[in-house]
Amino acid sequence: MKLGVLVSGEGTNLQALIDAQRAGELAPGELAVVISNNPVAPALARATAAGIRAEVIDHRGKERAAFEAELLDVLDRTGVEAVVLAGFMRVLTPHFIERFPNRIVNTHPSLLPAFPGKDAIPQALAHGAKLTGVTIHFVDTSLDGGPIIAQESVPILEGDDETTVRGRIQHLEHRLLPVVVRRLAAGKLSCEGRIVRRAE
Ligand code: GAR
Repeated sequence: MKLGVLVSGEGTNLQALIDAQRAGELAPGELAVVISNNPVAPALARATAAGIRAEVIDHRGKERAAFEAELLDVLDRTGVEAVVLAGFMRVLTPHFIERFPNRIVNTHPSLLPAFPGKDAIPQALAHGAKLTGVTIHFVDTSLDGGPIIAQESVPILEGDDETTVRGRIQHLEHRLLPVVVRRLAAGKLSCEGRIVRRAE
């Protein structure tokens, strides 16, 4: 199954997917294209270095519909059947999401439904949470509210700051995301209402 990965930044989660693919741990998933809305995202170089097609579709100065039409055009022409949001910092409209029903996954740096949206780690710190984590979920038309596929926690310890918590979270998501993507590509995730089950 051909996968499209949407990114906006550093691309450490993309790198985890690339490493998993190299190790033969993503099949039958295949990283077919990486698209960044940010022309200077370091993620682009990670894709290119791995021999994966990398495209920039800058969202700036475009209506949301026009931006998404360009995304869909690349994904369709590449034969992409499932989409991974790996640090993609744009909200997708229902039009896009409905093109891939239960075929878009996102990794989010909190225990959803706590701290959705932007700045999830600063939100958790400012709230005084003692626990936060990673949620990998199907993307539906709500903001970070889709059915939860995988979720694990990390502690917030005294003296922690955004950098230390982010490090702990990313370590976890680099392990979880490739596993979820492999299961998705293998058709091993089913979704009844909000409940995601794993057939393996
Ligand atoms: C990841 O930690 C991901 O959870 C977060 O952005 C980071 C991207 O890092 N996503 C969100 O906050 C989505 N709302 P990366 O570019 O190094 O993979």
